[in-house]
Amino acid sequence: MSRSASHDDPAADRLVSGHAHPEDTGDVGLRPQTLDDFIGQRLACDNLRVFVQAARARGEAMDHVLLHGPPGLGKTTLAQIVARELGVGFRATSGPMIAKAGDLAAILTNLERGDVLFIDEIHRLNPAIEEVLYPAMEDFQLDLIIGEGPAARSVRIDLKPFTLVGATTRSGLLTTPLRDRFGIPVRLNFYDPEDLEAIVRRGATKLGMTLTSDGAMEIARRSRGTPRVAGRLLRRVRDFAAVAGRAKVDRVATDAALLRLEVDVRGLDAMDRRYLSCIVQHYGGGPVGVETIAAALAEERDTLEDVIEPFLIQQGLIQRTPRGRMVTETGYRHMGLTPPARRDAPAPDLLDRVPSDSAAGKNADTGEFPS
Ligand SMILES: Nc1ncnc2c1ncn2[C@@H]1O[C@H](COP(=O)(O)OP(=O)(O)OP(=O)(O)O)[C@@H](O)[C@H]1O
Ligand SMILES: [Mg+2]
Repeated sequence: MSRSASHDDPAADRLVSGHAHPEDTGDVGLRPQTLDDFIGQRLACDNLRVFVQAARARGEAMDHVLLHGPPGLGKTTLAQIVARELGVGFRATSGPMIAKAGDLAAILTNLERGDVLFIDEIHRLNPAIEEVLYPAMEDFQLDLIIGEGPAARSVRIDLKPFTLVGATTRSGLLTTPLRDRFGIPVRLNFYDPEDLEAIVRRGATKLGMTLTSDGAMEIARRSRGTPRVAGRLLRRVRDFAAVAGRAKVDRVATDAALLRLEVDVRGLDAMDRRYLSCIVQHYGGGPVGVETIAAALAEERDTLEDVIEPFLIQQGLIQRTPRGRMVTETGYRHMGLTPPARRDAPAPDLLDRVPSDSAAGKNADTGEFPS
């Protein structure tokens, strides 16, 4: 179906994008190792702790887990933690990497009893492979066709019980049969600044940096609610401080560095501001369909939906309506503009100015999630 924002996408390389960058490998040391180490996502962690304990007590494989939420919130990290807390092996792959049913069969038959199989970007699994996954998840059985033509025969292979941990940024793109086979759906939300501050402090300690608490808070507030972004901004702030010869990094130093990096007080970068001003300047503040915005910005629709919009919506800067995206009053103010007087009842001429939304596939263009 739709491909998700990938790393060859320019927008995914933004400093404040939740997507992994190649230089993020420095993160490895910052990755929390246990549920107790994991800061934030209280509800998700508390629930997982219970399910892990119960599975361990019964000596059974834990039920399958679906982790969903925007990039960089800790899905991969949590999957590894779950395996470690269960005391089982961890095997990782991703939806687009599994090209043939045989690839999946090879992975599944090599799992030990109780192991965790992590499938990242599970919404990008090929439908034919999904079919193979259903009986594997439900009955720990594989039904494979071996050979071709008249010589083809089907074989059934028993698997050792395992736990599938799926991760997706777009649970709306998952087919219902697949989604229903996960006993434990876990939604990850953007982190609040207090949790991010704790994550930033912990990172600073690991990096051997002296960061004041108002400096840590400043980075936290500007990290788009995303630990991966917090880690990245922290390293860049450290670079600026090192070059400026500062031993201690405080709020002023942090602010100066983030300003140079064009990350504003809410954590928005140039790309976010381009998105907002496109809607304001060309479409009267909206509503305008996501395909139209994508075309105007020369960006992938998926990038807008995965990376840019979730945070703008969470911050109340834009709204997703059945007729498309709208910049809210808060959005206008953040851009230093005065919101138009009556935005809830757009004048007819405003509607006429959303051309590509009218005739063909308007609903498809609004990009509303099905659920
Ligand atoms: N709760 C947390 N505390 C501290 N660091 C965290 C936390 N969650 C995530 N991180 C850090 O954020 C980074 C991104 O985490 P992770 O790779 O698990 O995200 P993800 O949700 O899998 O992202 P993607 O959708 O891109 O695969 C990692 O470097 C990790 O160390
Ligand atoms: Mg990941």
